[in-house]
Amino acid sequence: MKVLIIGASGYIGSNLKKHFEKKGIEVIGTTFPEKIEGLKFFNSVDSDFKDLDIDLKEIKYAIICSGISNINECKMNSEMAYKINVSGNKKIIQQCFKYGIVPVFLSSDAVFDGLKGNYTELDETNPCNEYGKHKKAIEDYLIKSKEEYIITRLSKVFGTKPKDGTFITSLVSQLKEGKVLNCAIDQIFCPVHIEDLVNLFYLACEKNLRGLYNFCSTESFSRYELANLLKSGLDIKQGKIVKCLIKDINSLDCLPQNISMRSDKIIDALEYKFSKMSDHIKEIKIKIELY
Ligand SMILES: NC(=O)c1ccc[n+]([C@@H]2O[C@H](COP(=O)([O-])OP(=O)(O)OC[C@H]3O[C@@H](n4cnc5c(N)ncnc54)[C@H](OP(=O)(O)O)[C@@H]3O)[C@@H](O)[C@H]2O)c1
Repeated sequence: MKVLIIGASGYIGSNLKKHFEKKGIEVIGTTFPEKIEGLKFFNSVDSDFKDLDIDLKEIKYAIICSGISNINECKMNSEMAYKINVSGNKKIIQQCFKYGIVPVFLSSDAVFDGLKGNYTELDETNPCNEYGKHKKAIEDYLIKSKEEYIITRLSKVFGTKPKDGTFITSLVSQLKEGKVLNCAIDQIFCPVHIEDLVNLFYLACEKNLRGLYNFCSTESFSRYELANLLKSGLDIKQGKIVKCLIKDINSLDCLPQNISMRSDKIIDALEYKFSKMSDHIKEIKIKIELY
């Protein structure tokens, strides 16, 4: 099995490449706009799979990690973001179907309006921001295609490596710096650890899963709860956590409230056991001085 990862220079794409290669899978990774050693240059807006100069018949899956993932950027530069997130990804998917490659699309819990929570794969999608609308557009495009595909609907992804720039480690650093953190009590989500995520992608490909799956942990939190769990669990004396509502958070576009999702379907399909936030807090505590 050979795998193509579009956007292998990004946070998730680079971790996926490392994990699949560790599992002995040959990966062709792409980058844009930077030129990066070991990655092929590929712009989802106008590049063609033929430009990759690889034997496309050997590629089984194309994991589409490419895109503008910042909600404000999708609102501010909506035309550019639409070109990459919708037109560009549709072009990638059309080429997958043309060459018999199974597209694996990274969607998001932002496809939901956040009025209900505990969303399953059967719940109706109704995004409240541009980013979510882009994800829904590609989900609907794949579902209507009747072709083979995997849609993975991700919740917020976090790591526990010091200074990895993800939201849990940055909460810890900010608290240690004595910062005041405004944390919403009403935005609920099921953050997923990057190691669980790369495992799920590998197992889903290896077991030839097809269809739509929520890729999120089994634990739901508000950012306020998480910040307090970190402060008390890591015994951080500095910093202050202030309650607020998600509508008070400075954002150019709507931020949905309760976007927690159920992950029963992928747990049953892979007999997978997700890691616990409490374990990650213990892991951070051991080397807290590095954060
Ligand atoms: N991280 C999360 O918590 C999360 C949650 C839900 C869904 N997702 C989705 O998962 C995917 C990966 O997220 P991420 O956090 O890894 O984002 P990221 O770090 O921003 O990675 C995005 C990747 O897309 C590439 N890219 C940007 N414009 C491109 C273009 N025109 N053509 C080809 N590639 C392009 C970027 O290349 P450069 O790095 O060279 O710019 C980068 O490799 C995104 O679709 C995101 O919406 C992420």
